[in-house]
Amino acid sequence: MCFRQYSIRGLITSTTLIIITLFVTNVQGDGSVEEGRKKARACQVCHGEGGKSKNPTYPRLAGQHAKYIIKQLKAFKSGTRKDPIMNGMAATLSLDDMEDVAAFFQSNGSDNIAER
Ligand code: HEC
Repeated sequence: MCFRQYSIRGLITSTTLIIITLFVTNVQGDGSVEEGRKKARACQVCHGEGGKSKNPTYPRLAGQHAKYIIKQLKAFKSGTRKDPIMNGMAATLSLDDMEDVAAFFQSNGSDNIAER
């Protein structure tokens, strides 16, 4: 009886851990920071190194939520958001690329405030 209770508890604990792991992975999104670092080279010419733009013409992307970046890139690509530069830039990106560059820029947020 005692042993049985122990295994059920163990089962519940491991199931909980698996669910938490899946949840955390999901929250972080599907994009790869490392892939994004490579794919975002061209973007940083305008948006600053790591997305930390100091020029008000170019929005800061560092620390921006990946979901928002992806949403804007989709809008630029479809043309619902219009900007002569970004419509062209986004046209070259697949959904995979968008997820990767978004993950990269989101990951650069920790020192945002100190740098302003
Ligand atoms: C030649 C300069 C230039 C390059 C290169 C460039 N951008 Fe932009 N980007 C801009 C400008 C200018 C805006 C502001 C557009 C506006 O006013 O709507 C912008 C806006 C954005 C926004 C919207 C930001 C917000 O806060 O709404 C995102 C996201 C973005 N760019 C991502 C990228 C990515 C990803 C790349 C590389 C694939 C890239 N940009 C390359 C100039 C550039």
